[in-house]
Amino acid sequence: MKDKIKNVKSLEELQKMYSDTFGKNGTMTAKLKNMAGLSNEERSIINAENAELRQLFKEKQNELEMVALNAKLATEYVDVTLDVEPQNRGTFHPLTQSLKEIGSVLESLGFTMWVGPEIEDDWHNFTALNTPEYHPARDMQDSFFLENGNVMRTQTSSIQIRAMEKVGVPIKMFGVGRTYRKEWDATHAPMFGQIEGLYIDKNVTITDLVATMRALLSKFFERDIQLRIRPSYFPFTEPSIEMDMKWGDRWLEICGAGMVHPNVLKNCNINPNEYQGFAFGFGWDRMAMLKYNLNDIRPIYDGDIRWLKNNGF
Ligand code: DAH
Repeated sequence: MKDKIKNVKSLEELQKMYSDTFGKNGTMTAKLKNMAGLSNEERSIINAENAELRQLFKEKQNELEMVALNAKLATEYVDVTLDVEPQNRGTFHPLTQSLKEIGSVLESLGFTMWVGPEIEDDWHNFTALNTPEYHPARDMQDSFFLENGNVMRTQTSSIQIRAMEKVGVPIKMFGVGRTYRKEWDATHAPMFGQIEGLYIDKNVTITDLVATMRALLSKFFERDIQLRIRPSYFPFTEPSIEMDMKWGDRWLEICGAGMVHPNVLKNCNINPNEYQGFAFGFGWDRMAMLKYNLNDIRPIYDGDIRWLKNNGF
């Protein structure tokens, strides 16, 4: 029996021998069943034989499995030195990539992302933002009007209004999306992106605004960013400021901002004597262009893979 086990050549054969020995009608099973009338000595011989055979089967099984595995490895191998066809892998577009980075900083500061319609009504794009009809600030942006009086959103500030109307205060949100104006040169496209932040609560000050922008820009550009503040004018903020950031030895205008005008809060049914806060808005493309060294805004929207690849995307 022992020799027979040793000479088995296949797992199937071993399996069959095993059940002939230990199965329901197996020879060893029968011996173990009929030990009742036997002496202690005879019993211990049978028990020892039982243990030895089980051990032999186990060893043989391990051995045969190893042989099978080695045979498999010898035939199924991958030649890692073979040349393969180059694979084109997709990457994120610079706008998507920059939004992921900017969004994750703003979210870590507690801002929630909002989007809104690109075709806006007069109320959300202008009037609620303290820019009523005939207000000269309407001329600050060259708008595309639709025949029904709606407008292609000129600024993501409209999303602030929608957010405040919908969830009220306190609110900490950022809006993101495409905006439209009649302009066209290397740094201005008729369709471009903006990102807008808004934080309204009972104790929000302009210091919070500066700290937020500094944190955001420093994280995004992965260096300590120095900011400069200049007084400015936007109908929806009072005071209004513009921020420049130090870029090499130059100052670059980077965002418009300010404390939200009481009229804007009133237009959203918020009591300006109780709540106040800041808003800021900047060019989404512009941020991406600065970070990834792109010098023309127009190809950003062309979808030309060669241009993307040449610029490291
Ligand atoms: N909407 C302004 C623009 O398009 C940018 C801006 C300025 C947004 C000040 C703001 C803000 O939220 O407070 O030029």
